[in-house]
Amino acid sequence: MSRSGRDPGERLRSAKKRTSSSARWLTRQLNDPYVRQAKAEGYRSRAAFKLIELDEKFDILKGVTRAVDLGIAPGGWSQVLRLKCPKAKVVGIDLLPTDPIEGVTIFEMDFMADEAPAALEGALDGPPDLVLSDMAANTVGHKQTDHLRTMGLVETAVDFAIQSLAPGGTFVAKVFAGGTDTGLLTLLKKNFASVKHAKPPASRKDSSEWYVIAKGFKGRE
Ligand SMILES: C[S@@+](CC[C@H](N)C(=O)[O-])C[C@H]1O[C@@H](n2cnc3c(N)ncnc32)[C@H](O)[C@@H]1O
Repeated sequence: MSRSGRDPGERLRSAKKRTSSSARWLTRQLNDPYVRQAKAEGYRSRAAFKLIELDEKFDILKGVTRAVDLGIAPGGWSQVLRLKCPKAKVVGIDLLPTDPIEGVTIFEMDFMADEAPAALEGALDGPPDLVLSDMAANTVGHKQTDHLRTMGLVETAVDFAIQSLAPGGTFVAKVFAGGTDTGLLTLLKKNFASVKHAKPPASRKDSSEWYVIAKGFKGRE
């Protein structure tokens, strides 16, 4: 037994586990056509293709003039926004640093912080017509905790969308385990003309991520 009270074999086993999971990650990256395509087309992340595919299916980017990108880093979704809506004002936020993107205001800040909504709204010269959230909480490996943390982010993103969107606006967010829970779904249905779920082809089959697409914001009473 070591001074830490841990069996040295245990440390070795977890190091081995880490090494093999890093190796699996590397193999998957090298064999992933979306990773190759992202590199070839100059996108910072393969996630860019999820937004492109969601747009192809749900037509969410047409006519957008102001957009918010929650969980912007490393910047793939905002690159797509700049390309498909070149005149739109775009603001993004992330806990992690994001390299500058021309025409995009970026905050390195926790979206859950009290000052985040005002910072985002202040960077636009009017209400957004699109709020995107690709935020995912860092997983701790405890299924229930991970689910709750991610749902917390989604709920806050829904609140922000309802408080800030222009009438007719669109909200798109990453959700887990097949969709949104009942309370959230009811809230979305009450506030938007249509609410759909989708798993774009670029989303890995073994990931439980899905996206909720809520269109036609009814406006604040
Ligand atoms: C899957 S990545 C986003 C990828 C991005 N859509 C792209 O195309 O490059 C999820 C991001 O959510 C961010 N995130 C998680 N929790 C957050 C929080 N509380 N506030 C801001 N960003 C957060 C993470 O730091 C991470 O960069």
